Amino acid sequence: MNAFQFLNPTKLIFGKGQLSKLKAEIPVYGKRVLLLYGGGSIKRSGLYDQVLANLQEIGAEVIELGGVEPNPRLTTVNKGIGLIKEHHLDIILAVGGGSVIDCAKAIAAGVHYDGDVWDIITRKVAVTSAVPIGTVLTLAATGSEMNGNSVITNWETNSKRAFGSIHVYPRFSILDPELTFTVPRDQTVYGIVDIMSHVFEQYFHASSNAPLQERIGEAILRTVMEVAPKLVNDLENYEYREVMLLNGTFALNGITAIGVQTDWATHDIEHAVSAVHDIPHGGGLAILFPHWMEHVAKQKPEKIAQLGVRVFDLAAEGKTDAQLAAETAHALRQFWTSIGAPSRLSDYNIDDKELDLMTERAMVGATIGSYVPLAKEDVREILQNSL
Ligand code: NZQ
Ligand code: ZN
Repeated sequence: MNAFQFLNPTKLIFGKGQLSKLKAEIPVYGKRVLLLYGGGSIKRSGLYDQVLANLQEIGAEVIELGGVEPNPRLTTVNKGIGLIKEHHLDIILAVGGGSVIDCAKAIAAGVHYDGDVWDIITRKVAVTSAVPIGTVLTLAATGSEMNGNSVITNWETNSKRAFGSIHVYPRFSILDPELTFTVPRDQTVYGIVDIMSHVFEQYFHASSNAPLQERIGEAILRTVMEVAPKLVNDLENYEYREVMLLNGTFALNGITAIGVQTDWATHDIEHAVSAVHDIPHGGGLAILFPHWMEHVAKQKPEKIAQLGVRVFDLAAEGKTDAQLAAETAHALRQFWTSIGAPSRLSDYNIDDKELDLMTERAMVGATIGSYVPLAKEDVREILQNSL
């Protein structure tokens, strides 16, 4: 294991009816609130009215910014920064999925920086302080509710980039499984794929001797795979939603990444695909991940074989690691297809026209990933195989 320090400062407030805890949490940071939300799902579900009622009860002054896009945009981040500066707001309350929460984080960091917030998002400048953030999560997927990561798209340059900082962890996150009942089937599936992919990106690490971290990851994967097929056919089942919600948070709150060098290559490639074609993050991952496994298995099949045996219950007897790794990639693709995820980029009408641009954008370093570092040619091949 590598030496590590672990700190996760987010207060998780989990369970039915927990929205009312807003009244205790918000005043800790002040009463001037930027209420940030997405394209309208919270208005249709009635959550918007409930949030406002809670804020009114404590006499909060509320400025709103709605319309945060899935794959949130730099332009919206800049609008939020402007509103906080103009109205001297104390806290951002992000109500929505990962996109709204990620947007809140970039706004929070940008307010305390005099230059262009894109410098922070592209990691040219480190965050030294940020406006406090609270969240009400409405979709199980990204883990953004309990981590310090934010992913923002700049459409002027077709770049989707991620930054992370301890300063932008939500101070509190309210997770009520009932608030995820209205997530449509396709978004529910994308969330499931994203949750599993987060475990993979940390499971395929370039370090040794991390059996606890790996077993925690395997437990998350087995739990998700047990509940996912039931959930996609019973979207308003409280127990399935509650299990998925907690898995989403634990898949990316840092716990399985302690002491290991993680591998985010597939995410880098997916971010490049959605920066050019604006497809859902989980949809892109469902297509790319099995191809990534097949590609890196040529060099290092052993960990993929381990995953296949421990999580997909593959019989190992008489098989090489290479055979098991091939079976694992196949089993994963089959599982995701069975719950309704896409398996080819052509499912999103993506052809080879932008292959070079997507490859270029995925290369956020000279190589990406760590389990098997990928050069440009590797990334191009994975994309080509995914068409
Ligand atoms: O915008 P609204 O109207 O709210 O609708 C959203 C959106 O259309 C809808 N939705 C959310 N909650 C709902 C609901 N519809 C009905 N009922 C509800 N309760 O779902 C759609 C997708 O929402 P979005 O927030 O975009 O989804 P998700 O949570 O999957 O977030 C995706 C974004 O997070 C980034 C992705 O790249 C992408 O930009 N990621 C962030 C990470 C992080 N911060 O740690 C890690 C991830 O790997 C990921 O890259
Ligand atoms: Zn993800």
